[in-house]
Amino acid sequence: MKTVKVENLIEGLCRIPEAEFTCDNVYRFLAENPVDVDSIAAYFHWSEKFYTRNLIFKNERFEMMTLCWNKGQVSRIHNHADQMCWMTVPIGKLRGQNFRAVEIDETKGFCRLQETDQFDLSDCLTAKVELEEPIHQILNLPEFDERAVSLHIYSKPFDKCLSYCRETERFSEVSLAYTSVGGVICDGIQL
Ligand code: SIN
Repeated sequence: MKTVKVENLIEGLCRIPEAEFTCDNVYRFLAENPVDVDSIAAYFHWSEKFYTRNLIFKNERFEMMTLCWNKGQVSRIHNHADQMCWMTVPIGKLRGQNFRAVEIDETKGFCRLQETDQFDLSDCLTAKVELEEPIHQILNLPEFDERAVSLHIYSKPFDKCLSYCRETERFSEVSLAYTSVGGVICDGIQL
């Protein structure tokens, strides 16, 4: 498989004209340009406590980061603040589980979710989060039995999203933080 260094991937994304930076075009670009794993190794940090978010690049239009997952780690059930998202999994394997809100009362922060489709990603396969069905969870299932790394692109960058709890059927806004920026662990983070 011919792979592309992350610097070239970023350059390529920056060259896409604003009007063409669409879900489908960026998906195709990522699918056709699998990332060279060595070129993102500086952005690998795993923690026993949580999956990590490691910023590689950010401008006004998009941010790119690796997420590093130990066995069994999962994201919260969340949305993407109405932004576009693409992800690819160069190391290990991850499950994406999508959800649909079957009942929602925003005034009470109430939301009942139903599972819809799911997808597995590995070997640099690429996926996009559908704007029509944006609530999802990413899981490194214990049975996958290995660490994983995913590469995510969000457009535009966002630092808050909605997080959903199935047990309490509540949802609320949460802040998103980076574990590292440019390969350097952020102040106050203990892996
Ligand atoms: C995150 O960005 O922390 C969650 C991963 C995702 O769903 O894209």
